[in-house]
Amino acid sequence: MTRAPLIVPPIVVLGIETSCDETAAAVVRLSEEGKAEVRSSVVASQIADHAPFGGVVPEIAARAHVEVIDAIVARALAEAGLGLDGIDAVAATAGPGLVGGVMVGLSFGKALALARDLPLVAVNHLEGHAVSARLGADIAYPFLLLLVSGGHCQLLAVEGVGACTRLGSTIDDAAGEAFDKIAKSLGLPYPGGPALEKLAEGGDPARFALPRSLLGRDGCDFSFSGLKTAAARAAERLDPGPTGEVDRRDLAAAVQAAIARQLADRTVRAMRAYAAARPGQARRFVVAGGVAANGAVRRALADLCAAEGFSFHAPPLAYCTDNAAMIALAGAERLAAGFQDGLDAVARPRWPLDEAAARLNPTHLAGRKGAKA
Ligand code: KG4
Ligand code: ZN
Repeated sequence: MTRAPLIVPPIVVLGIETSCDETAAAVVRLSEEGKAEVRSSVVASQIADHAPFGGVVPEIAARAHVEVIDAIVARALAEAGLGLDGIDAVAATAGPGLVGGVMVGLSFGKALALARDLPLVAVNHLEGHAVSARLGADIAYPFLLLLVSGGHCQLLAVEGVGACTRLGSTIDDAAGEAFDKIAKSLGLPYPGGPALEKLAEGGDPARFALPRSLLGRDGCDFSFSGLKTAAARAAERLDPGPTGEVDRRDLAAAVQAAIARQLADRTVRAMRAYAAARPGQARRFVVAGGVAANGAVRRALADLCAAEGFSFHAPPLAYCTDNAAMIALAGAERLAAGFQDGLDAVARPRWPLDEAAARLNPTHLAGRKGAKA
């Protein structure tokens, strides 16, 4: 990322996202007043390709991105009613994520930028999630962000474009990963989060007692591994017959409630620290990422906001899970702030949003359980 002359809005940016199992392209216009307008947002899911394996297979993902990326970008342009002449810049996810897939989207973006002599922004996928709620509403900076997805679970104070401080992070699994793994042990199809939410409908969350990891403990870090193990054990003991159906529903409801409770318990601490550091300032809270699509999680966090005096914001459902509109907007905001990247930008499997904190805190170091989460 280098400093470049400011590109003053209005700007129309083509966004490209290929960091996991969705090939996505979108066109977003950022107005003079800083308002985002989504002109198109196309998402091609690879769920069917990965379903037989119960999770995302990196090699299959990368190959599937290569097969459709050109058609998806062409469709995003067509739906926006634009040719490449109507685009002012290209923004592509450069990480973190499955590096084979990231390379496909980033290389495609670089090729377009080179061929059309357009500015390029190599976007951090997490920064995309961080701005995603701004696709649906005007939310001013700064805000407290809970980013909860399949690969990430962290609390961040977001001061502005590319400026955030991490307040907490998971010490083991991400919340979406917990949803997915527990769903698998309940025999649900991939991706597990939405399937588990559906199963939990009408279930009794109080029937099963599940561990309350880190509850009431200092700090804002998360842990889901104890819950995951306990839920898997409980699932193994369920009767496979018709009575077991009610049990499965109740267990799903208990798991969902336990995840929502853990998220709320850690978030309330972050809210108090955030508010204490900014006396008299507006208190805004944003939840983003795939798990923000979960109704029980949204309700628990909205209730918390009401109790703690924060305004509650979440992206429209279509922009909770991975999409390219959030990447285009993050790119547009970076360009307007005077940042852009060269053709030497690299694809990064791990790329924490606040690299300084990630280096200082050993739980956030690179590695299998490191900075990615
Ligand atoms: O943001 P996302 O699409 O990808 C990552 O960047 O990780 O998030 C995907 C995650 C998956 O773990 C999925 O199970 C979870 O979000 N998810 C949900 C729901 N919809 C998606 N989890 C719980 N309830 C949902 N409705
Ligand atoms: Zn994501």
